[in-house]
Amino acid sequence: MELEKEFLDIVDEIINSEEFQKRKKYRHHEDESVYDHCLEVSYLSYKLAKKFGCDYKSAAIGGLLHDFYPYPWQYTDEEKVIFNIPDRPKNIFKQHGFTHAKEALSNAKEHYPKVLNSRIENIILRHMFPLNIMPPKYSESWIVTFADKYVSARVLKHPRSYYKYLGLEGMLKKIKNFLKK
Ligand SMILES: [Fe+2]
Ligand SMILES: [Fe+2]
Repeated sequence: MELEKEFLDIVDEIINSEEFQKRKKYRHHEDESVYDHCLEVSYLSYKLAKKFGCDYKSAAIGGLLHDFYPYPWQYTDEEKVIFNIPDRPKNIFKQHGFTHAKEALSNAKEHYPKVLNSRIENIILRHMFPLNIMPPKYSESWIVTFADKYVSARVLKHPRSYYKYLGLEGMLKKIKNFLKK
């Protein structure tokens, strides 16, 4: 995929920063890295926002940072040690699907405070709608929410992966065990 120069000028500083480069080693869906996933969502959001006359700069940056949570959520025992990842919470509502949008926003505030604006913050915070029930506020947030699902659905090969993606695998197991009783 060839990326437009205008797009690269917008995202250049972030993608080349040390912290963002770490995402090349964070696994996301299947074998795709968080880096590749976010870049793809960012580019699609940029193109859609341009087409619909929206703030394409915010859409591009929001798309890039929408999954900027601090630790990889899929990891081996070895990676858990390498990345110093805390134990998974037992409470289902504290698991990845429900919490990572908030975590991504506070991590973005910590690392890239100067690039944020209210649209970008809303894009990051609301991108997991409808799992996170508060709907997006701006057109650009809707665009990134859609782009994220579109890009993810293409990568996920098995329906079970959707539960995993949403951080609901634990809930699925509990329901299955309950039905067995
Ligand atoms: Fe996400
Ligand atoms: Fe995502």
